[in-house]
Amino acid sequence: MITLDLTLPDTRYPIHIGHGLLDQAELILPHLPIPQVAIITNEVVAPLYLERLTQQLQNHGVHCIPVILPDGEAHKNWQTLNLIFDALLGANAERKTTLIALGGGVIGDMTGFAAACYQRGAPFIQIPTTLLAQVDSSVGGKTAINHPLGKNMVGAFYQPKLVLADMDLLATLPERELSAGIAEVIKYGLLGDADFLAWLEANMDKLRARDPEALQYAVRRSCEMKAAIVGQDEKEQGVRALLNLGHTFGHAIEAGLGYGQWLHGEAVGAGMVLAAAASQALGWLTQHDVERAVALIAAAGLPVRSPDFGIDEWMRHMGHDKKVESGVIRFVLLKQLGQAVIQPGLPTAVLDTLFSGPHIDPTISH
Ligand code: NAD
Ligand code: GLY
Repeated sequence: MITLDLTLPDTRYPIHIGHGLLDQAELILPHLPIPQVAIITNEVVAPLYLERLTQQLQNHGVHCIPVILPDGEAHKNWQTLNLIFDALLGANAERKTTLIALGGGVIGDMTGFAAACYQRGAPFIQIPTTLLAQVDSSVGGKTAINHPLGKNMVGAFYQPKLVLADMDLLATLPERELSAGIAEVIKYGLLGDADFLAWLEANMDKLRARDPEALQYAVRRSCEMKAAIVGQDEKEQGVRALLNLGHTFGHAIEAGLGYGQWLHGEAVGAGMVLAAAASQALGWLTQHDVERAVALIAAAGLPVRSPDFGIDEWMRHMGHDKKVESGVIRFVLLKQLGQAVIQPGLPTAVLDTLFSGPHIDPTISH
């Protein structure tokens, strides 16, 4: 097991990465203020892992409240969040009851937000079960639900007490979800580590074949980068915005197609292609650089062409981005491969070319 630390001005927590961690209750017990937890999961993950985790904790005298939600991005909303509160109140959960997120990013984001709100703040723990959640969403304390008008628009910064990334849980992950997770891994290489990008180019086959060493290295390097960035800028006043590479375009795809049509990681994959193309239009990336980025994203099994919404709808959806300041969309673009920067606004001519160019697929719209 490898342990990384995320250190913030007023808190610090471990990120354990390894095998067989779900069966090690002793990693969780020191983080419980009282021996009571609510395990928030969904209909897909519950039959796979809920019983194992519950047994482990019960063997150590911990009372477990199971909360099983409907599955999927389309349920990341107020109605589902309220089901968590119904279950917590129905079971007399207290302010010191720890909420454990057992699932992917949807469960993690909703559980974190529920924990931030329940009795004005209950402790929570992340047990990410998707690659995407292990490399990104479980670390850093961004919690949220979607609004029909915008992705992750209602939420809070609220840090977990512990992240437990058990690599063995990825064995049951569908192929398409694995690729979606690799999108966020590629993001780290593109935004801040050219050597890691080259490693990904050399090891993509191993990652897709779930080679344990390759996967563990990818999770570790991603978490190291995320912890370092969040450690500098917890509330996204500066450098943390770079973690949104591909997301301004990607969130527009998710909202434009309807949540759950494309997976979040798929939208980020196609979004990173648009970010690379925009960076080329500004003279920062070469054609060869863009081809490298596109080839890597395609090799991960991700879409590299975005839907054809037309420029007005693209702009409308991107206008709901959380990085918008005084009405100006702040894009995360690439000065070079391995170096992301914030670019406030893009010339209309660039946007016109981008949204009608070769990286748009006219056969995909609504
Ligand atoms: P997800 O949570 O919907 O999980 C993907 C699918 O895999 C679901 O059907 C889930 O039930 C299933 N699943 C989960 N674990 C499994 C396992 N071990 N075996 C088999 N099936 C399993 O999606 P995701 O890709 O994990 O997360 C996407 C969400 O994360 C989005 O809502 C996105 O906005 C959010 N996100 C948040 C952050 C953050 O910093 N908070 C960062 C990136 C993404
Ligand atoms: N996933 C982007 C962030 O955590 O800031």
